[in-house]
Amino acid sequence: MNTTELEATVRAMTARGKGLLAADESSGTIKKRFDSIGVESTETARRDYRQMLFTTPGLDEAISGVILYDETLRQSADDGRSLASILQSKGIVPGIKVDKGTIVMAPGSGEKITEGFDGLAKRYEEYHQLGARFAKWRAVYCITDELPSPRNIRLNALGLARYAAITQQSGLVPIVEPEVLMDGTHSIERCEQVTTVVLQGVFEALAAEGVALELMVLKPNMVISGKECVVQANARQIAEATVRCFRRTVPAAVPGIMFLSGGQNEVQATENLNAINALSARHPWIFSFSYGRALQAPALKAWQGKKDNVTAAQNAVQKRALLNGAACRGEYQSQMEQAA
Ligand code: 13P
Repeated sequence: MNTTELEATVRAMTARGKGLLAADESSGTIKKRFDSIGVESTETARRDYRQMLFTTPGLDEAISGVILYDETLRQSADDGRSLASILQSKGIVPGIKVDKGTIVMAPGSGEKITEGFDGLAKRYEEYHQLGARFAKWRAVYCITDELPSPRNIRLNALGLARYAAITQQSGLVPIVEPEVLMDGTHSIERCEQVTTVVLQGVFEALAAEGVALELMVLKPNMVISGKECVVQANARQIAEATVRCFRRTVPAAVPGIMFLSGGQNEVQATENLNAINALSARHPWIFSFSYGRALQAPALKAWQGKKDNVTAAQNAVQKRALLNGAACRGEYQSQMEQAA
C-alpha cells in the first residue's frame, strides 16, 4: 500500500472549510435530473453539464474533490483537456464512483445490497491512470419498524469493508458511504437508533478487513426525521443527535465525516451542517459535505441545457459551495443566502 500518496489524498480531501462535489450520478440518475429540466440526456449534454460545473471560477475555494462517474472520467472539455485534468489544474482531487448500484437482496425482502466487485482491482489501475485518487461505494438501508434487517446490515457492511480494503491496496482513498434513507414516517430517534447499529456494523467489518481508518473518509447520512414524519426535528436537534451518534460509533482515527445530502433541500443541508459544526469544536474528525443534489439543484435549474445560462449556473453552484464552506466552519447565517 502506497501510504504516502493515500495520506496526501486524504489530507487534500479533508482540507478545512472545503467539501466534495458529488457529480457521480449514473446514466440513469442523471437522466432523471435532466428530465426535470426537459433536457435530453445524451453523452454530449452530460459532458456539457459537467464541464459547466467543473470550470466554475473559484470552485476550489470550497471544493476539495469531485466524485465522477466512469463516463465523465473519460470525457474531455471543448478545449481538449480531460475533465479530470481541469479539476487537477485547480488543485481539486478527482475521484470515481465504483459501485454498480444496488440489487434486491432477496425477493420480498424490501432491502438492497450493492454490486460492483467484478474486476475492481483491475478497474482501479485504469482509473488511477485517468487521474482518480479516491473512490466511492454506496450502501443503502431503508427504515421501517422492522428494517433494516441484521442480514442487510451485515452484508452491506461486508461489501463496504471489502471495497475499502481493495481500494486502499490499489492506491486510492475509499469513501465509505452507508446511507440510511430519509424516506418514511420514522422519527429522528428511530433514525439515530438505525444509524448507530449501521455504523457499528460498518466499523466492525472495516476492522476485520484490516482497513486503515486514517486513510478513508466516511460519507454518512445525518441523523434526521423521516421525510414523511409529522414531527420534523430542527437543526439544533439534528446536530445533537448526529454528533452523539458519531461519537458513539466512529473511531477517532477517521479523519473526515463528509455528509451526503440525501434529499434535504439545499438550504436545509447547509443549515444542518452548520449546526453540527457550531455545536462544539472538540471532535476528532472534520464534519464537512459531499453533496450531490444540495450543491447541484440550483445550478441544474439555472442551466436548462443552454450555453447562455452557463454563467448563471456556475454562480449558483459556487454560491452553494461557498455557503457550505462557511457551514464547515460553523459560520453560516441565513442572511448570507440573500447576500450571496
Ligand atoms: P446526495 O447529496 O444528492 O444525496 O448525493 C450524494 C451521493 O453521492 C449519493 O451517493
